[in-house]
Amino acid sequence: MREGRTVVERTLVLIKPDGVRRSIIGEVISRIERKGLRIAAMDMRTLSTEVAEAHYEEHANRPFFASLVEFITGGPLVAMVVEGERAIEAFRSLAGATDPVSAVPGTIRGDFALEVQENIVHGSDSTYSADREIKLFFPELA
Ligand code: TYD
Ligand code: MG
Repeated sequence: MREGRTVVERTLVLIKPDGVRRSIIGEVISRIERKGLRIAAMDMRTLSTEVAEAHYEEHANRPFFASLVEFITGGPLVAMVVEGERAIEAFRSLAGATDPVSAVPGTIRGDFALEVQENIVHGSDSTYSADREIKLFFPELA
């Protein structure tokens, strides 16, 4: 449990191509808004390989990297900057665990996904990642 002063943060959220394909954009946005988080910027776009590789650069040496880049560039996604009190952790909590089978029901991944790659959403994992990812996706806000 954490107490003390308010910490307003921004985080980068993606509704990945599987979420767009499955028509659950509204469902995800609704959960973000119901939580009390605000959408500060949003648009739909298809990522270039260059941007996808930069976004997932921490995973460049992992065996799933090529497949992940192919998946994330494989159709339009929704990118947004979400802000509010401890927004980074708040959104990760709404998203649930990376592996949707382990993700608790009630979370986005726990309710809508079964496969680790096609896990519907992305959320930055730290203030460092959030700054880096927001600069990559929305340079005009940085
Ligand atoms: P990661 O940053 O570990 O997860 P998260 O999205 O929860 O921050 O991994 C990035 C994405 O890579 C993840 O959402 C799905 C994909 N991925 C795989 O396809 N296979 C794997 O074994 C892992 C760990 C991730
Ligand atoms: Mg991550």
